[in-house]
Amino acid sequence: PNLSSCHNSTNIWDFDPIHPVAFPVYCCPPKSESNEPVIDFEFPDLSAPLRVRKRAHLPDRDYIAKYARALSIMKSLPYDDPRSFGRQADIHCLYCTGAYNQKYTNEGLSIHRSWFFFPWHRMMIYFHERILASLIDDDTFSLSFWNWDAPEGMLTPEMYFEEPFIDIERSDNHVRRPKVADINYNYVDDFNLKPDEQISKNLAFMYHQMVSGAKKVELFMGCTYKRGTTGFCNGPGTIEVAPHNALHGWVGKDSNPYLENMGSFHSAARDPIFYAHHSNIDRLWGVWKELRNNVPEIIDPDWLDSYFYFHNEKSQLVRIKIRDVLNTTKLGYEYEQIDNPWLNARP
Ligand code: C2O
Repeated sequence: PNLSSCHNSTNIWDFDPIHPVAFPVYCCPPKSESNEPVIDFEFPDLSAPLRVRKRAHLPDRDYIAKYARALSIMKSLPYDDPRSFGRQADIHCLYCTGAYNQKYTNEGLSIHRSWFFFPWHRMMIYFHERILASLIDDDTFSLSFWNWDAPEGMLTPEMYFEEPFIDIERSDNHVRRPKVADINYNYVDDFNLKPDEQISKNLAFMYHQMVSGAKKVELFMGCTYKRGTTGFCNGPGTIEVAPHNALHGWVGKDSNPYLENMGSFHSAARDPIFYAHHSNIDRLWGVWKELRNNVPEIIDPDWLDSYFYFHNEKSQLVRIKIRDVLNTTKLGYEYEQIDNPWLNARP
């Protein structure tokens, strides 16, 4: 992106691909930050133990209390603090609506529906996690993941019904217990489906999105978004379309025009559950890669050297490249090892 190009942008809402809608949004950082110095990303100190991201539905009260404390502080920071929750949400808006131009053209940059999807969101939640940790001065703090691909995780995790994790802009029909998520939700609720039927359907669908439908790199990672005028390619990977988009739409409030908050790019990251949703997406990238014996997914320098800007926990503006985020151990975190039940759900 070209940082000095931040401008009004357009949220393309194509949850319903037959009737996409576009509307204007503005999510640029305060003008006072326009000449901020930029530093290059450096790997975190690896003498500290790895942070372990665990399942969000585990009833770990101490962890939830810690996270609650960190998030409450984050929510209390003023908007001109880049670590504030409002700014964290708007970073997503910025990169999803073309608010910055691409470095080499005057086209808006948009990180969804292409090969930027996985690495960009990994960066976003990496910084988010470290900011939360620093707000409570706890190096071991980690995000947790919404394990919607395993039967016990298909309910909305209990912690999201408690403050400060509540978002009132959610679907009352879907986000309630014991409702099993439809991870391939496509606007229509199937009220005849029993919970265990929904679970088996979900597992078979996961198998398709992770294995049988994701054998070619591009099918999983999304299309090749190259530098240059016609850069934007619009070909999301399997997981990005669903469960990713599907659950965004499933969680967002049905009576809002764009299923806000979760159901629209500009508002999605205002819901705390966004970060648990994306931790699972991030975990599944790693699982897919492991299934391919960790063969590098893409070696095109246009991908590896693409860079984005985020504020770190010290409020410094950092330039980070995709090649920096391909190994989570180097980033100081990992996911708890669990079984992936859909691996045995070949239809
Ligand atoms: Cu950038 Cu889950 O969307």
